[in-house]
Amino acid sequence: MTATAEFTSSTVNPPVPPGSTMVTIKVYRFNPEDPDAAGWQSYKVPALPSDRFLNLLLYIKGYLDGTLTFRRSCAHGVCGSDAMRINGVNRLACKMLMKDFLQEGKEVTITVEPIRGLPVEKDLVVDMEPFFDAFRAVKPYLITSGNEPTRERIQSPTDRERFDDTTKCILCACCTTSCPVYWMDGSYFGPAAIVNAHRFIFDSRDEGAAERLDILNDVDGVWRCRTTFNCTDACPRGIQVTKAIQEVKRALLFSR
Ligand code: SF4
Ligand code: SF4
Ligand code: FES
Repeated sequence: MTATAEFTSSTVNPPVPPGSTMVTIKVYRFNPEDPDAAGWQSYKVPALPSDRFLNLLLYIKGYLDGTLTFRRSCAHGVCGSDAMRINGVNRLACKMLMKDFLQEGKEVTITVEPIRGLPVEKDLVVDMEPFFDAFRAVKPYLITSGNEPTRERIQSPTDRERFDDTTKCILCACCTTSCPVYWMDGSYFGPAAIVNAHRFIFDSRDEGAAERLDILNDVDGVWRCRTTFNCTDACPRGIQVTKAIQEVKRALLFSR
């Protein structure tokens, strides 16, 4: 019988695409089965200017170290699953172009860590449940009374425009996990939950605004925000997160 070589990192020479530059990726590793061994691990990876940072992580996992653990799905900035702290700032790995890191003739090192404020499960994977608990708590769905209409609920373009920005949220958690208030105390609802409350509070078809505002008037609600804009800077969808929070505060102080 002819032996077949197994496809493992030890028997396959990792490919180096023509025109690529070798960069160092420093990953903060954590394995719950050996927590004392947590720390930085470096990998040398070839990068093309057209690569996304996610491609480099996939390269490590495919060719250098299959134990590296991270989430990703769409690879196109839509699913929100690959939020991580890249060079100290929250970003989606699939939206970071390597051309923005590469510098002619210079050695490039990029650090990557899990987003902060949520329990780390392994390497770059965090437990998102506390984040989704806060999201669910603000009732992020249309609330209406009376019988179901027999046709669509009509809304003017101006009324639709009122909450257009906050419809773009992909629940990646980049905002909430860049918020210093959330880092200090995870009981704060966090910007993403408030953004998703905003999306319905200002929807002219919705009747649950008072209920949501009441929830956000809580000690862990919008008043905890210190307007530091970290969340707005972190949002990969360009949502004016802090502005949305201010609008919810104003709705509480006056009336929507
Ligand atoms: S603006 Fe508010 S919600 Fe956003 S990061 Fe700062 S404190 Fe957190
Ligand atoms: S508001 Fe932006 S950063 Fe926050 S969860 Fe939504 S898409 Fe992500
Ligand atoms: S993999 Fe879906 S947003 Fe990056």
